[in-house]
Amino acid sequence: MNALATRGKGRITVDEQLIGQDIDGYIIGSNIGCGGMGRVYQAYEANTQASVAIKIMLPEYAQDEHFRMRFLREAELMSTLQHPNVVPVYTYGEWHNYLYIVMQLVRGPSLERILRRRQFSPLTAWQIVRPVADALGFGHAYQVLHRDLKTGNILIEPRGKGNHVYLTDFGLSKRPGLDTTLTEAGVSVGTPEYMAPEVVMGKQADHRADLYSLAVVIFELLLGRLPFEGKNPQMTALAHVDQPTPRARMLHPHFPRRLEAFLLQALNKHPDARFQSAEEFQLAYYKAVKALDDDTRRRCYWVAAN
Ligand SMILES: Nc1ncnc2c1ncn2[C@@H]1O[C@H](COP(=O)(O)OP(=O)(O)O)[C@@H](O)[C@H]1O
Ligand SMILES: [Mg+2]
Repeated sequence: MNALATRGKGRITVDEQLIGQDIDGYIIGSNIGCGGMGRVYQAYEANTQASVAIKIMLPEYAQDEHFRMRFLREAELMSTLQHPNVVPVYTYGEWHNYLYIVMQLVRGPSLERILRRRQFSPLTAWQIVRPVADALGFGHAYQVLHRDLKTGNILIEPRGKGNHVYLTDFGLSKRPGLDTTLTEAGVSVGTPEYMAPEVVMGKQADHRADLYSLAVVIFELLLGRLPFEGKNPQMTALAHVDQPTPRARMLHPHFPRRLEAFLLQALNKHPDARFQSAEEFQLAYYKAVKALDDDTRRRCYWVAAN
């Protein structure tokens, strides 16, 4: 139970002395983000001066032999996943007490940050849904689950008039200490706000749990609030299991009926009742938006959080 409670920003202890260090040929620059497992820094390759992003795990993780092995195995897998909407992993390794992973530096904010200042319409949300579903479908074809899909792991790089969308942290979210949470024998992985019910319950989860998390992201984009929020991380996680999915039209009376139906199916408690693949999911969203008239699909339906 405790593992979930300790999740979140602010408990990072990777020391600032890392700045300026040469980690296997990468010179560490400024800190660009913190997450539950470590810190992300801008860095440059000493030989070529190329800028990269380096994620350095909290030292305690390298001491956990089980985590260490899994990290190295999954980083290897990630470095082979090449898709235009997946942040490329260049290399990874161990340096003293640290595990690190070197990635392409995405020059833009996370969707989490963008949501603080921008609302999405059904049409503009498609610009996120399409590439993220593409990236998930690609990973799923290789039996790679993301396991921690959320707005913080979707990065948006402005390019000319448009944006390029990247998914990051593919398969990297298994953490030591998170392995027994809400159920005795269960394995719970992810971020409570985005966790599928079967994940919360520690049941065997598959690619449909990632699609559930994507549905939470879409709910957030379209309505400006999360479907489930509890008083603490455990309550939030359990709400996915035992609270009915909020009906979008109860939150916003003009929310399009077809999109409400899409969200209810995508957020169904039972994986068998959801969309069964990233392709099916994406097509269903596309069709729901296409069926709307132009004004309806360009409107925003945000509601105040309760
Ligand atoms: N490859 C990258 N390029 C640029 N910024 C990144 C990259 N990877 C991660 N970040 C930034 O660092 C932040 C923290 O990342 P992370 O440690 O994965 O934590 P979390 O996913 O829990 O937010 C991200 O939200 C993002 O803003
Ligand atoms: Mg991340």
